[in-house]
Amino acid sequence: MKKVYIFVALVVILIFAVGWRAYAPGSSNSSIFGNKSKSTKTTTKKISPSFNKNKHSISDPRSIWIVVNKQRPLKPIDYTPLDLTPVGNGQLMRKEAAAALANLIAAAAGQGLKITADSGYRSYAIQVSVYNNEVRQHGQAVADSESAKPGYSEHQTGFAVDVGGGGCNIEDCFANTKEGKWVAEHAYEYGFILRYTADKQSVTGYRYEPWHIRYVGTELSTEMNNDGITTLEEFFGL
Ligand code: DAL
Ligand code: ZN
Repeated sequence: MKKVYIFVALVVILIFAVGWRAYAPGSSNSSIFGNKSKSTKTTTKKISPSFNKNKHSISDPRSIWIVVNKQRPLKPIDYTPLDLTPVGNGQLMRKEAAAALANLIAAAAGQGLKITADSGYRSYAIQVSVYNNEVRQHGQAVADSESAKPGYSEHQTGFAVDVGGGGCNIEDCFANTKEGKWVAEHAYEYGFILRYTADKQSVTGYRYEPWHIRYVGTELSTEMNNDGITTLEEFFGL
């Protein structure tokens, strides 16, 4: 009789164990019999099927989705945008991007954070001197990791801006300021993406720039945020 009680007790323990594993958080793909069940986890890095990746050009420098990088110079190389608009601090951006930045700055101000536009549109000629200065000061290799060659910079499109705040202007320390953290978390709500993230130098070719934000419009910035895709190169499969 004692053996029967022990057997029943063991069965009850087994049932509880199986039940607990089935409902415990994070255990959906495992069982006490091993981990052979097929994964049902869905990857977050998937573009929504309804998203139209061809809605805007990625090659026309006037397009909010223009992808400029070391392999993709602007065409024409000395492209100049037409509707440059002041964004404060003596800086300019394309009209649509300027309005979005104003909204971002106002929203941050509502949280007691002061964000400034430190470097917006840069012409081909200005980028010549920015790049040459970098080479002079730090050498070619360092320059190429943090400054685009003339004709290869997003700043020339009028859609990019280097922002500052919390005493850190175009400096690494911006990432640790309240302003920098707010920008990293909320920029997408205003149509901007952090273009050069810490973990994607191998994709973008540039080191982490917590201050460099790029206007792409809220449709794309929100989709990228939802998908967990942080670079334009990965999003557009380049
Ligand atoms: N600092 C970025 C890469 C630029 O020069 O456009
Ligand atoms: Zn920049």
